[in-house]
Amino acid sequence: MSKANGSDNSGSQSSEQKVKPAAHLYTLINELQVGVQDAIHYHLGFQYATEALSDKLADVGVDASWRLLDVCCGWGVPTRFLADRFKCHITGVDITQRSIDLARQTTEGTEAASLITFQQGSALNLPSAPGEIDLVWSQDGFCHVPDRPRLLQECFRVLRSGGYLVFSDWMRGEYITAAEFERFCTAWSFQELETPDSYRSHLTGAGFEVLSQEEVGREYAAAGEAEFLKLGATSFIQRTAAKDTETAAATVGKYGLDVHLAQLERENMDIYVAQGKMALGRFVCRKPDSR
Ligand SMILES: C[S@@+](CC[C@H](N)C(=O)[O-])C[C@H]1O[C@@H](n2cnc3c(N)ncnc32)[C@H](O)[C@@H]1O
Repeated sequence: MSKANGSDNSGSQSSEQKVKPAAHLYTLINELQVGVQDAIHYHLGFQYATEALSDKLADVGVDASWRLLDVCCGWGVPTRFLADRFKCHITGVDITQRSIDLARQTTEGTEAASLITFQQGSALNLPSAPGEIDLVWSQDGFCHVPDRPRLLQECFRVLRSGGYLVFSDWMRGEYITAAEFERFCTAWSFQELETPDSYRSHLTGAGFEVLSQEEVGREYAAAGEAEFLKLGATSFIQRTAAKDTETAAATVGKYGLDVHLAQLERENMDIYVAQGKMALGRFVCRKPDSR
């Protein structure tokens, strides 16, 4: 099964079916992780990454009058960060109902709550009218959406002319072996992954101008690890190995060994990025003004 470069490997499956594996995975991740860490930034680089990406929004002049969409919003931590920073209206969309429930619960009663809406739904069918949105944001979620050209066309559809698409996403790195890539994609339920070149070509194919495209994986992995150490003093080794004999045993007992091993495989992300086996792209794109 080819999983690189946006090739469609899922035959005649409908897009509703194709988005299901990611929803199942994140329902499981919610079961396995929430309660241990609760709602956190769930992307490479944690808060550091969100701050850095949100600086791009400041650069393009986002203010309280803008309407934003956070696609693949997860537990809504970045969504709340943006509402707090820019005082703008923002809707978070995610395929996983459990994540949306948690995003709502953790937003209730916060200062920015009146600016934020969370909605369960697919990135391939966004809940906005054409041209309604000033800026689409996403962190580390597009990798899960099976049809990248269609996803980018959908972002293009909801944006006004002159609106922005600002996102980060996981991509295949140069040095990963075929066996490692297969294992990693299976554990994360990726049906396809882009390279920097294929991403640019899909973006321009959808009609976007690519204003900037940067590789930020190593920087984010290092910053994220430092942030984790500060928060809980658990290193990567502690998190994945010695960490939790009890948690490991409980996971194996309840879900089986394969689920436990897949969870450890997912933890390889930071290491793979540091080794150039995976990459993280940071993009700022613009829908051209209509002529
Ligand atoms: C790595 S998490 C990122 C969450 C959030 N953006 C953050 O940075 O904290 C990826 C998210 O993508 C969501 N997702 C996967 N496929 C999706 C789809 N087709 N439509 C919408 N959300 C999707 C998952 O449910 C998950 O919450």
